Amino acid sequence: MSHNLHLLLLFFFFFFFFLLLVQLARSTSTTAIGQWQLLQESIGISAMHMQLLHDDRVIIFDRTDFGPSNISLPNGQCRDNPHDLALKIDCTAHSVEYNSLSNTFHPLNVLTDTWCSSGATLPNGTLVQTGGFNDGERVVRTYQPFCEVCDWVELPNKLLIRRWYSTNHALPDGRVIVIGGRRAFNYEFYPKTTTRSFQLYKLPFLAQTNEPHVENNLYPFVFLHVDGNLFIFANNRAILLDYTRNIVVRTYPTIPGGDPRTYPSSGSAVLLPLRNLELGLNVEVEVLICGGAPSGSYLKAHSRQFLPALDTCARIKINDPNPTWAMESMPMARVMGDMLILPSGDILIINGAGSGSAGWELGRDPVFTPVIYHPDNVLGSRFEIQNSGQIPRMYHSTAILLRDGRILVGGSNPHKLNNFTNVLYPTELSLEAFSPPYLDPNKRELRPTIKTPVSSSKIQYGKIIEVKFTITWLIDPFSITVTMLRPPFNTHSFSMTQRLLVLTNTTPVMLTDSDQFQVNVMAPGSTNIAPPGFYMLFVVHHNVPSTGIWVHLM
Ligand SMILES: *[C@@H]1O[C@H](CO)[C@@H](O)[C@H](O)[C@H]1NC(C)=O
Ligand SMILES: *[C@@H]1O[C@H](CO)[C@@H](O)[C@H](O)[C@H]1NC(C)=O
Ligand SMILES: *[C@@H]1O[C@H](CO)[C@@H](O)[C@H](O)[C@H]1NC(C)=O
Repeated sequence: MSHNLHLLLLFFFFFFFFLLLVQLARSTSTTAIGQWQLLQESIGISAMHMQLLHDDRVIIFDRTDFGPSNISLPNGQCRDNPHDLALKIDCTAHSVEYNSLSNTFHPLNVLTDTWCSSGATLPNGTLVQTGGFNDGERVVRTYQPFCEVCDWVELPNKLLIRRWYSTNHALPDGRVIVIGGRRAFNYEFYPKTTTRSFQLYKLPFLAQTNEPHVENNLYPFVFLHVDGNLFIFANNRAILLDYTRNIVVRTYPTIPGGDPRTYPSSGSAVLLPLRNLELGLNVEVEVLICGGAPSGSYLKAHSRQFLPALDTCARIKINDPNPTWAMESMPMARVMGDMLILPSGDILIINGAGSGSAGWELGRDPVFTPVIYHPDNVLGSRFEIQNSGQIPRMYHSTAILLRDGRILVGGSNPHKLNNFTNVLYPTELSLEAFSPPYLDPNKRELRPTIKTPVSSSKIQYGKIIEVKFTITWLIDPFSITVTMLRPPFNTHSFSMTQRLLVLTNTTPVMLTDSDQFQVNVMAPGSTNIAPPGFYMLFVVHHNVPSTGIWVHLM
């Protein structure tokens, strides 16, 4: 080989190496900061509650006593309801089904009042919504996915007592627990399958955290710990409850500063992604609570004094022998924000206000800017500011993750009734999508596509799942993870039963007879780690998730 040829080869080698580096830098640059898109100018109602089901439809509802909405009930029907506080004969709808694949929607028929209610999905994917106000306060309503002619089924007197501002969580045994609510210092279960589940269980913690005239402990933040107990946070502190024996097994310290974080001083909270699931009880379980309103904010807002919201987050290891809250500062203050777990394991903080409190007319200074929190970064470099939206998402706004990785954002109605004009922050009927940076076109080549399992596959506890996927450009094989996310019920700044499991996986191998890769992962080992039901499963490469597939864990 001549000397010149050598040089030429060396030159080409470095040239291509350089191209690779440029490409790498481009694809991993941090310039992508998320994009907003208006999906619907009006879905006719204000999205106060949202749940994604495993047919990719989103069930959305507000309250029946808002007065007329901007969408008619199907087939010229009207509700003739002498109990309705706003309108006795109402021919408009207060619930819609939104198809996230086709971006279309149609009205649903809900008869009794769903105001400030709660929900969860059952192991078979059916949505169970509980309580509300007035004639709806003891009603359980169900909605079945994949049923073209379906509508709400309303079951009167299924709750033992009235439930308004409660929190629900799906349980390991397939039931749903319904906790607290206004003047409800107790919990109960649905469905009531056993004798014990016909009982009402007292929870003094909810009375202890209830402040006169202010409450500050509604819509408690509830998470299922991997030991089977429930972590329940209300106001400014938490307990660990063995709900099967009605025993408080642990109490946690008050968040430093002592300011309230639950309704109406609504911050938000998530259980951080769960890893090392095969180690069982050695899994590190952490809760992160961000924002809220300082003590006194709610009462002051009634006299038009809007105090700045809290700008702190508090993070705690709930199975640490000596748990303490680690405090961090957000780039901006926020009350009524929503915290959503992204398929990549990062946390999105979105919606809300910079001052005031939850409640009619009590919030000011909409926060248009979402923030992404990277839980694994070192302290001080965890928050990443995103592109701002343009629509205020104040009291009664919502956000949920869709299977393709976008965030569906809707709602906002800080008024007692529907007011579309001539008010500060008019009743908002629009739906938007926020696309996190991982959906940036720059990252398309890094994005995995799952080939198998096919959507709606059954997966069994503790079994190996073979996941096959393609990727245009695998730059980082060791970054591959497989995650499973339970789609939550979102309302009032809290996403009930939200959890993300990072499954333990093998290193991906390239399959010789195709362009596919395969990783093997271990399905969650127990129902305490992941209650039975439908989850979205994602392959994540270099922090870029695939579109999810639905899996049925049972
Ligand atoms: C209500 O719907 C009509 C069309 O159905 C639309 O023209 C109007 O702008 C909507 N009003 C609001 C407040 O969105
Ligand atoms: C889902 O489970 C609930 C509770 O067991 C049951 O009432 C309902 O009929 C089930 N739905 C389907 C479609 O099987
Ligand atoms: C808000 O809507 C209600 C009911 O339609 C109406 O009575 C009230 O005047 C409206 N408020 C404003 C400021 O337009």
